[in-house]
Amino acid sequence: MKTIGVLTSGGDSPGMNTALRSIVRTCAHYKIKCVGIVRGYSGLIEDNTKVLNTRSVRGIINKGGTFLYSARCDEFRQASGRKKAYKTLRNNNIDGLIVIGGDGSFTGALKLKDEFNFPVIGIPGTIDNDIFGTSHTLGYDTALNTVMDAIDKIRDSAISHDRLFFVEVMGKDAGYIALRSGIAIGAQEILIPEVNTKINDLIDSLKNSKKSGKTSSIIVVAEGYKPGKNVYQIADEIQEKLPNYQVRVSVLGHIQRGGRPSCFDRVLGTKMGVKAVELLKNAKTGIMVGTQHGKIVTVPLKKAISEKTKIDKDLLRISKIMNT
Ligand code: F6P
Repeated sequence: MKTIGVLTSGGDSPGMNTALRSIVRTCAHYKIKCVGIVRGYSGLIEDNTKVLNTRSVRGIINKGGTFLYSARCDEFRQASGRKKAYKTLRNNNIDGLIVIGGDGSFTGALKLKDEFNFPVIGIPGTIDNDIFGTSHTLGYDTALNTVMDAIDKIRDSAISHDRLFFVEVMGKDAGYIALRSGIAIGAQEILIPEVNTKINDLIDSLKNSKKSGKTSSIIVVAEGYKPGKNVYQIADEIQEKLPNYQVRVSVLGHIQRGGRPSCFDRVLGTKMGVKAVELLKNAKTGIMVGTQHGKIVTVPLKKAISEKTKIDKDLLRISKIMNT
């Protein structure tokens, strides 16, 4: 393994920069050349690369985003795009590739492995935490803290005005951010795609809380919760059925993807970066680096994208106890 390539792909997440720094410096430690690919798979197709050394990654351990830029690349889904990408790998004498991203990015990495027998390792970088085999993806912890901070502020206003807030958080198909942040901010209800909460149950819950003397409430809604209505339509329906409430909607959006990575994500990104380089160095391929119970683990990439971690439904039970 003389040269390792690295790219960040899909939605950016806090901690990607930390992992890049770790990969570059681990390569330097083992005297391996490190080539950064700019803008994910698009850069691989367009041969947009740069050689990285230890100084290229100074001052980024604490920065959100990714200094290599990221992209969602449709062309890479086509065999013709992947052929061009493989050519770039060959042109730059890259012997193995580390992909930092989510499930779509890992699907791409597996194609390189399966179609060209090219060594690939994955680092799960997504705020959604929707990757099997790791308790935490890179960026999830920071996003949780960002959400918690934002909703704490919304709560100040909710209390001052006796209002009911629906706060939508990210999570394309998964409720991990909603569930954990919902517990942390003391949500009245948490609506996630994994659980079919009916609007009538929501109404009962709100009526009961009103009876108990509660004057304001926060309902955390995962972006992926889609009972045929979006968050604005759900809020309208509640407003119609419970006219005594003053209902407001707040969609947190992309602030959840940015910002300084938390201590947890910095340590995780650093550990994952070292392991990813060492796996390639030891001729391992098709593997994702994950974490379980504070320890670094490895999981076949195929498994990481095809299986689903069950949501911790006990957190919902706990949330209900908190709202009695
Ligand atoms: O996958 C991470 C994520 O932030 C999802 O939670 C969200 O649905 C999606 O990316 C948004 O993607 P984009 O920034 O491309 O609109």
